[in-house]
Amino acid sequence: MLVKQRRPRGFPPGPSPIPVIGNIMSLATEPHVFMKKQSEIHGQIFSLDLGGYSAVVLNGYDAIRECLYHQGDVFSDRPSLPLFMKMTKMGGLLNAKFGNGWIEHRQLASNSFRYFGSFQKPLDQKILEECMFFVDAIDEHKGKPFNPKHLVTNAVSNITNLIIFGERFTYDNCDFQHMIEIFSENVELAVSGWAFLYNAFPWIEYLPFGKHQKLFRNAAKVYNFLEQIIRRFSEGRVCNFPRHYIDDYLNKLDKSAGNLGTPYSRENLIYSVGELIIAGTETTTNTLRWAMLYMALYPNIQEKVHMELDSVLGSEKSPSLADKKRMPYVEAVLHEVLRFCNIVPLGIFRATTQDTLVSGYNIPKGTMVITNLYSVHFDEKYWCDPGTFSPHRFLDSNGNFVRREAFLPFSLGKRHCLGEHLARMEMFLFFTTMLQRFHLQFPPGTVPSLTPKLGMTLQPLPYSICAVRRQQ
Ligand code: HEM
Repeated sequence: MLVKQRRPRGFPPGPSPIPVIGNIMSLATEPHVFMKKQSEIHGQIFSLDLGGYSAVVLNGYDAIRECLYHQGDVFSDRPSLPLFMKMTKMGGLLNAKFGNGWIEHRQLASNSFRYFGSFQKPLDQKILEECMFFVDAIDEHKGKPFNPKHLVTNAVSNITNLIIFGERFTYDNCDFQHMIEIFSENVELAVSGWAFLYNAFPWIEYLPFGKHQKLFRNAAKVYNFLEQIIRRFSEGRVCNFPRHYIDDYLNKLDKSAGNLGTPYSRENLIYSVGELIIAGTETTTNTLRWAMLYMALYPNIQEKVHMELDSVLGSEKSPSLADKKRMPYVEAVLHEVLRFCNIVPLGIFRATTQDTLVSGYNIPKGTMVITNLYSVHFDEKYWCDPGTFSPHRFLDSNGNFVRREAFLPFSLGKRHCLGEHLARMEMFLFFTTMLQRFHLQFPPGTVPSLTPKLGMTLQPLPYSICAVRRQQ
């Protein structure tokens, strides 16, 4: 259960709450920035009143490492928020309570990613095939302005589609695209003021208006679509010969039939498939969209990327993962995009599994915990001039790539991102395949806004870009 009491004894301090709604209103615009500013007043660990229940906010690398890494078991639950309970009944994978159900679902997904990722062909070969569809589709714009959002989304989602369904979907599959669109609208709505209000006052479910109603309608449509598509792709399943994640899950479900404690169910399959699709698509897509935008914004950085690609690959050879270590500048650019753009600025909300003590504060079992990953990437103790976009911070004086400690775009601890390895492969191969062929520039006289669109993830506002074929 959530900690309903307002600031229990020994709890971290925080900004003064407004009666009834607490600090909810302060989260309306750029909550990650608001929280970092509050940490300068109240300390790295402070609390917020979210209208009747309290949340602890962790800021800066030291506090996040202390809790997520050194007290890994304690900070690995998800909060039983009314919204999450309504959406996934705290089952599935990403939203699952810390325990056997989560362990089984995480293990099954990890095994599937490893096995079906490389089923019949190595995964990087499969990603490269998708990269070819992607650059061909870019080429169709013939250097004229286009909004890359849908194209990047379709290409990136196809990598998880291969693992989950064993197939890619063509870029004109309107039903799948519509599902992703309303699902990603929900990623935005899940941290809107209405979502926080619903968590504090679940009875607003019965109000006929409010953005939370849209969220519920979207979720019903997404689950309906997923149910149908899962049925379609499980046709012809042969036990012990799984073709993809869905077969594997259904085999487990069959084997556990009659076992009362089993976490496998048709419902949890739908939730897990939805979570894997959206967690895999929204994040990597936004990273690549930011990367394209920053390449056009900083032609000098793009030129260095081109030079490295030309010297390692030339114009004919396709990139491979083995080339990564020979491309320190590309690696530095992709790391700086992840640091600077903060794709998942507040991580995914956590909760404590037991009472604990951190930096002298008491944090009771069941407390909701917000990990401000943005504050890690802008932590002045670890980053010099964090507000400047500079890939050089990931290079040593000889131009070699250097890992940085306070770099946590995939979070830390037991619930850290399950898809980090896959995401890194996708980003590298899509980015290098695209920049090997194209010069990215904004249409003459335009410079897009750098202000992110807010949600669980930060994405660029829609922008147009020209991808002009390079003459090498
Ligand atoms: C969780 C970031 C790509 C699947 C997370 C979390 C973050 C994150 C910050 C929260 C971890 C926590 O609770 O503290 C990212 C970024 C990505 C990316 C920045 C790309 C650039 C992917 C991909 C997949 C994926 C490609 C899979 C297809 C998941 C899952 C979880 C998760 C299943 C929940 C893990 C759990 O609760 O055990 N990710 N992610 N992510 N991510 Fe990713």
